[in-house]
Amino acid sequence: MGPSPFIIVAIDGGAASGKSSSSRILAEQFNLLHVDTGSFYRHLTAELLRRRVPPTDAGALELTLAALEFSTQIDGRSARMLVDGAPAGDDIRSQDVNSMVSHYAAVPAVRAALLAYQRGQREVAQQHNLRGLVMEGRDIGSVIFPDATFRFFLHADPLERAKRRAAEGQTDSITERDRLDSSRKASPLTCPQGAIDIDSTSLTLDQVVAKMAALIAPALTA
Ligand code: DC
Repeated sequence: MGPSPFIIVAIDGGAASGKSSSSRILAEQFNLLHVDTGSFYRHLTAELLRRRVPPTDAGALELTLAALEFSTQIDGRSARMLVDGAPAGDDIRSQDVNSMVSHYAAVPAVRAALLAYQRGQREVAQQHNLRGLVMEGRDIGSVIFPDATFRFFLHADPLERAKRRAAEGQTDSITERDRLDSSRKASPLTCPQGAIDIDSTSLTLDQVVAKMAALIAPALTA
């Protein structure tokens, strides 16, 4: 038996669809780097809000984005994005960021600024001798890693998702974010052709993870 291959697991889905919880568990179970790209968009949004650069000001956005430096810090098995050397603060889960992140994420220049950085997480995982990476977001299986070993798409009823966010003590405009994320021109939230669709509405987190793990495990022992 040769060395196990490096695998990439892409998990896309709407807000509060269970992406973060399931990818974190899979990362632990299979020794993968966990990459939450939503946190990258949130961190960048918080930074742009702090600098008072609105998503509508193309010129200022371009100048600001060109000057920002992204690097990565590993925290356990999770990749944390640093912007100009600084980690994200708690404000990335604030109501301000929740309500603005989809507006920034719809701007092609913002997406372009994060594209190479996100793809570079493959090398980060390799440098840390991990067996692969599990990356969650909206366009991972469609744009970032269309050739991923596994591409999952998570669905859940909006009411159930709102309950999950409320249980986390968060106020989040889930349906409004999904509407903006699905209707934007640049890399919209969509289930890519060939992705494995999982409806988690009536499944427990363990059941969702078990479905994914059943497919991933054989690939790592091949
Ligand atoms: O996963 P999340 O809810 O924390 O993501 C926050 C926002 O970031 C989401 O509403 C849209 C944007 N996003 C994106 O456009 N593309 C990604 N790959 C990940 C997140």
